[in-house]
Formats: sequence, structure tokens, C-alpha cells
Amino acid sequence: MSGRRPASPPLRALPGLLRKLAVDRLGMMRDAAALDDAVLVSLGPKKLFVFNRPDYAKHVLADNAANYRKGIGLAESRKMLGDGLLTSEGDLWRRQRSTVQPAFKPARVTTHAQAVAQETVKLRDLLARRGAHGPLDVLQEVTGFTLGVLGRTVLDTGLHAHGGIAHAFEAVQDQAMFDMVTQNTVPTWAPLATQRRFRRSRRELRRTVDELVADRSARLNDTPTADDDAFALMIAAARRHTDPRAGYEQLRDELVTLLLAGHETTASTLGWTLLLLARHPHLRDLVRQEARAVLDHGRAPDAGDLHKLTYTTQVVQEAMRLYPPVWILPRVALQPDEVGPYAVPSGADVLICPYTLHRHPALWERPEQFDPSRFDPARLADRPRYAYIPFGAGPRFCVGSGLGMMEAVFVTALLTRDLDLDTLPGDDRTPEPMMSLRMRGGLPMTVRPLR
Ligand code: HEM
Repeated sequence: MSGRRPASPPLRALPGLLRKLAVDRLGMMRDAAALDDAVLVSLGPKKLFVFNRPDYAKHVLADNAANYRKGIGLAESRKMLGDGLLTSEGDLWRRQRSTVQPAFKPARVTTHAQAVAQETVKLRDLLARRGAHGPLDVLQEVTGFTLGVLGRTVLDTGLHAHGGIAHAFEAVQDQAMFDMVTQNTVPTWAPLATQRRFRRSRRELRRTVDELVADRSARLNDTPTADDDAFALMIAAARRHTDPRAGYEQLRDELVTLLLAGHETTASTLGWTLLLLARHPHLRDLVRQEARAVLDHGRAPDAGDLHKLTYTTQVVQEAMRLYPPVWILPRVALQPDEVGPYAVPSGADVLICPYTLHRHPALWERPEQFDPSRFDPARLADRPRYAYIPFGAGPRFCVGSGLGMMEAVFVTALLTRDLDLDTLPGDDRTPEPMMSLRMRGGLPMTVRPLR
């Protein structure tokens, strides 16, 4: 196969690169992006391509998506997620996607607005109450919020009673990263503290999921209707399975996946948005003005407000540009391919990195600066469509993007209208690239009610 060979880091840089894989994954991606838009790292027979251009991203994620399966990190996440929608492939993925997709249609998401708004009001009241006693971890509270919303909208089941879910997910993600860095050489049964924590968390998650399934199954009709939530549709599909045990295990994997994919990403978006607004009080004032005008007389948001909260939406979009919750999209080529002028052999790992793409100096003016006006509709035409991919692209595009955006916009508007959330002196939050782009050390903030 002909084709150009991408730039490669010099051999002497490889040890440093491997060290960065363990301690500074974002730095490693930034180094690759600084080298060129297409970079090849060869580690013995292993080939790793890093592409950092909108048209290359389009090719891999959308135009020739059929030639790629999910990549690095997949084996590690499978220990936790099994074969859920995020990690499954081929026919199984197609079946799962067609089962849950109807539950995320725009019309269905609109019907969830009331539940999202009620949870948003609860979050505001909780922050005001707890904040009266001193600084609190806002990231932890918004994580509770996103789990609560997931429970009410997608699963129709109470998740508040299962507060350990977020902690359990943290432990299993730490483990997935550990496995990635150690290349799966340390078995799960090894008597190490991290492995023990992982095993305990996985047990807890499974127990929680079993309880959720038992509770929801008992309240479910035999035939699903168009109004059913994703959980009901998944249970109905499991009941149709010819092997009940395999059907149940499949259901458990799908539920764990939906729980993880549906809460951490939105919580991360909210954390970064609130942090950026605290660092830019003059922009926070603009959000506040809009929120006061649209959500007048102190009322909670409803579905009709979403398209009126235009500046708030731009703020959330810009926060996801700088800190995309899914910071890396790993793939593996099934057959040889050509990405632009570059030949990619079958079996090669391919990385598309929203974090570096969203900060590419040829695509974004002053890329490191927080400037929500970039997402002013009048300015969108200047930019290639695949320069901004916080929800991925192509057939594996996020199913929950509508719900996630609604949550982020409602919370940002309502909290900013009613509270001053400020970071503590010396704030230096940095991103922690796990499966999602977490915030190292949480987000301690002071809370001051404005009315
Ligand atoms: C702001 C919030 C969110 C962001 C930034 C986000 C981002 C993403 C991205 C980038 C992908 C594609 C991953 C890939 O191609 O490898 C994805 C997939 C997915 N997301 Fe989201 N997501 C968000 C919210 C949600 C919510 C609320 C749910 C569910 C309630 C959800 C469920 C899923 C699922 C199930 C997939 C896998 C889809 C498939 O492979 O067919 N996400 N998400």
C-alpha cells in the first residue's frame, strides 16, 4: 500500500513518551499535536497514529467508520462495562443502539424537561443550604444531580438511594487507567490495594444494578410502548432473549454503561463550566443577565426556554471546547485504510483527540482563551464541522447529547441567576484525563445566595 508516512517522534523521545502515558496523558497528546497533524508512534510492531485535523477525524469517525472498532482502553473498560453500547461492536452494537435510541428522540427529551428542571431547583437549594456552612465540593454535588436526572428520565428509577454509584465508578475507572498504563500485565486478582478496591467496587456496582433491575422489572408491562424509557426497552429486549442468563448479563452490561456514560460526562461539563464562569466574572454577568430575562420572576426553566438561553448555551459549548469530557476517541483499523495521504495498516491504533483538535491554532483564534462568542451562530460558518466534536461523530455519536445539553444549560442558567459560586484563593484546578476529563481534587467553591 502506498501513501505518505506521518511525522514520528525521534527514537530518543520514546522513553519520555511512555512516561507521559503514565503521568501526563494530555501533555503527551499536546506534544503529538505540536509535532504535526498526523503523527506515527511505532513501539516495536505496534503502530499508533494520532490524527489532529477535522477532515481526518471525519474520515475515521464517520465516512469510513465501518473500518474501525473502538480502540485503546476498550479492553480495560470492558472489565467494568462488559458489552454495553459504548464498548460493543458489530451486530450486537446495532441491536443495542436500535433498542435504546428511541428513548432519546428529541421529542422524548423535551418531555424530560420538567424532571430536569425540578432536579436543577433541588441542586440550587442544596448548594445554598450546604454552602452556608463553608466551601463545598461542587463537582460532587453536580455528580449527584446528573445521577438523579438519569434515574428520573432514562431509567425511571430512584438513583438517589444509590449514592455509592459515583464512587464505585471512580474506582473502576482508576483501575481501567492502571490497566492501560501497565498494559494489562497485573491481573485483577492480584493482592494489591488498587485491585482490591476495583473488585469491591465492581461487586457494589453489580449489586446496585441487580437491585435496580429487580425493582424496575416488577413494575413493567410485558409489551413496551412508545413512551417507555431506555431501561424499560432494555428489559423488554432481555426478556426476548432465548437464553435468559445471557439476556440478563447483557442487560446488566448495558445498564452499567448507561449509568456511567450518562452521568460523568455531564457532571464534568458542569464542573468546568462553573469553574470557567467563576474565573471570568464579566462573562458570568452576561449569563446572569440572560437567565434573569428568560427565567423571569424567579421561575424554573422549561423546555421552551432552551432555545432562548442562547448565550448560556454558548458558554457550555465553549467549556466543552476547552475541556471536552470525552477527551480521546480511540479506534483500531480493521482493514488497511488511507487517511488523507497517509497509509494506515490493518490492526493499527488510531487516536482522534477532541482535546487537541479543539485547541488547534489553525482552527481557533487564541485557542487557550475562554471566549463563548466563538459559538455565536454568525461565526459558526467559518469553521469546519469536524473541528468541534464533543459528542463524537458518525454512527457512534452520543445518544444522550440532547439530554446532556439540556442539563448543562438549565443548571448553568439557574445557578448563575441565583448564586455566586466562587473558587477558593489560589485555585489551580487541573484536568485529570481518565475515561472522562475529570477535575483533579474536585471543585471546592464558596456559595453565596443572591436573593
Ligand atoms: C455533556 C454530556 C455528554 C458528552 C460530552 C458525551 C460525549 C460522548 C461521546 C464523545 C461519545 C462517543 C464516544 C466514541 O465515539 O467513542 C458518547 C457516546 C455515548 N454517550 Fe454520551 N456524552 C454526554 C452525555 C450522555 C448522556 C446524558 C447519556 C445517556 C443518558 C450518554 C450516553 C452515551 C452512550 C450510550 C454512548 C455510546 C453510543 C454508541 O456507541 O452507540 N451520553 N458520548
